Amino acid sequence: MRSKRSEFMAREARKITVIGAGNVGASCAFVLAQRKLGEIVLLDIYEGFAKGKALDMSQGGQVLNYDGIVTGTSSYEDIADSDVIVVTSGFPRQPGMSREDLIGKNAEIITQVGTGIKEHAPNAIIIMVTNPLDLMTYHMQKVTGFSSNRVIGQAGILDSARMTHFVSDAIGCSNEDVQAMVLGGHGDTMVPLPRYTTAGGIPITQLLDEETIDAISKRTASGGGEIVKLLERGSAFYAPGSAAAIMAEAVLNDRRRLLPCSALLNGEYGLEDVYIGVPIILGKNGVEEIIELDLEEHELMSLQESANFYKTQLSDILGY
Ligand code: NAI
Ligand code: 2OP
Repeated sequence: MRSKRSEFMAREARKITVIGAGNVGASCAFVLAQRKLGEIVLLDIYEGFAKGKALDMSQGGQVLNYDGIVTGTSSYEDIADSDVIVVTSGFPRQPGMSREDLIGKNAEIITQVGTGIKEHAPNAIIIMVTNPLDLMTYHMQKVTGFSSNRVIGQAGILDSARMTHFVSDAIGCSNEDVQAMVLGGHGDTMVPLPRYTTAGGIPITQLLDEETIDAISKRTASGGGEIVKLLERGSAFYAPGSAAAIMAEAVLNDRRRLLPCSALLNGEYGLEDVYIGVPIILGKNGVEEIIELDLEEHELMSLQESANFYKTQLSDILGY
C-alpha cells in the first residue's frame, strides 16, 4: 500500500516499472531514482526482495536528494499505467556459460513477464535486458504482440561503453571525449566498428595502430565474459543497469537519442524479421527511426553473420 505522501507525489508522475529486482534491475532503478524521472515500481517474483530494495532506495533519497517514490511488489496489478517497463528478470551467466546457454530458462520467464505486461500495461514501451538479449527481445515482442517500435533491447550502449573505456585507456584521454559504435548481436558475434569510433571527433584509426584497435575490438566482444570470470558469481550490472536507465530516460523525455540498440529489422541492412543491434533514434514512441550506415563489405558481412546466427537460434531453439 502506498503512503499518503506517495499517493500525493504519484498523481502527476510518470511511471517506470523495472521487472527483476536483482543486480541489473536494482542498479537501473537506482539510476532512474537519482535522475528523478518518475515513480518507480520494482517487481520481482520474490516480493520481499523487491520491497526491501525499494525501501532501501527510498531511504537513500534523503541522502542523495531524489525525493521520489520507489515501491516493491510481486503483483502485476501494480504495473498498471507504466509508461516504460525495463525487463531484467532472468538468470545471469555463470563462469563457463555463454549467454545462449540461458535461452530455455529465460524464455519461460519472458513468456510469463510478457503476459503480465500485455494484460496490465498494454501501452508501455518495453526495454529488454534479459539475455540472450536479441532473442529475448524478439520473444517479448511476439508474446506481447506490441508493435516492434515499442519493444527494444539494451546491449549496444553497454558494448559501446566498454569499447569507449578501452579506447580512452589506450589513447590516454578522458572517456567523455570518446564515442564508440558497436553493432550486431549481444554476444561473441558483435561487431565493433573502429571506423565509426572517434575521440574528440577524430577517427581512432588516426590515433591508434591496427594491432591496438584489433585488440580493443576483441576485448570489447568478450567484455561481458571478462567480468563474469572476475566476479565468479553472476555478471556485470552497474554499466548494464545504467545503460537501460539511459534508454528509459530517452523515451520518457523524448530525447531522440541516437544510440545502438536491438531493434526489429524489416529489410534494413538486407535483414528481415530479426532483432539485432543497429543505430536508432530513441524517443517517445520507442524506435523512431533505424539508421542505415554505409558499411564496407566486410562490416556488413559481419553484421549479417551475427544476425543469421540469431535467426538460426530463433528457429532451432525457440521454434520461430
Ligand atoms: P539477478 O539474478 O541478480 O536478478 C534477476 C532477478 O530476476 C532476480 O531477482 C529474480 O528473482 C528475478 N526473476 C526471476 N524470474 C522472475 C520472474 N518470472 N518474474 C519476475 N522476476 C523474476 O541477475 P542480473 O545480474 O540482474 O541479470 C538479469 C538478466 O540480465 C540476466 O539474464 C543477465 O544475463 C542479463 N544481462 C543483460 C545485459 C545486457 O546488456 N543486455 C547485461 C547484464 C546482464
Ligand atoms: C554482459 O555483457 C552478461 O550480457 C552481460 O555483461
